[in-house]
Amino acid sequence: MKKLAELTNKEIIHLLKNQAHLELQSSFLYLQYAYWFDNNNFEGIGKFFKAESEEERKHSIQIFDYLNVRGVQLTIDPQLTAFQNMKIHFEKPGDYFEAYLAREHLNYSQLDYIGKQAQQCEEILTHKFIGSMLEDQASSVDEAEKLYAKAQAYSAFPGLFYHLDAQIKTGSQSFDTWKAKQL
Ligand SMILES: [Fe+2]
Repeated sequence: MKKLAELTNKEIIHLLKNQAHLELQSSFLYLQYAYWFDNNNFEGIGKFFKAESEEERKHSIQIFDYLNVRGVQLTIDPQLTAFQNMKIHFEKPGDYFEAYLAREHLNYSQLDYIGKQAQQCEEILTHKFIGSMLEDQASSVDEAEKLYAKAQAYSAFPGLFYHLDAQIKTGSQSFDTWKAKQL
């Protein structure tokens, strides 16, 4: 693999390693959500969260790959991806979408912070790299917001969630953009 200039800034390395683990934790979290929906007969939403889980895993590897080409020694630490005291089970489908949106916001603000730190330290390559991730993350937040709004609207009538499930399954309405991006 082609190596880039070695990354030596300890704080940036620390932030990037943490972010890579956070993305991996999101991947496990969304997989957890996927099986809750699947188990409660929302197969479409289950599939959606499985795809989201894949997406987060890719983000994690993107960061690990970046660290690797910058010559950083990597240790994957499963402890950092553990759920620990995180709330992972919810009562209602809408609650999962709320947690999902909060997680996407968290990812955005963490990436934004790393980008700003990189700029301050004049770590130009990292600033560029995080900038492209941040762009993708902005559209993820946007999609999550739309889904959350829809989930909230449907929460008043639990039966409507099956409608949302069917929409996701067939990729209709606003999920077209999501699907086009994924497939
Ligand atoms: Fe992500």
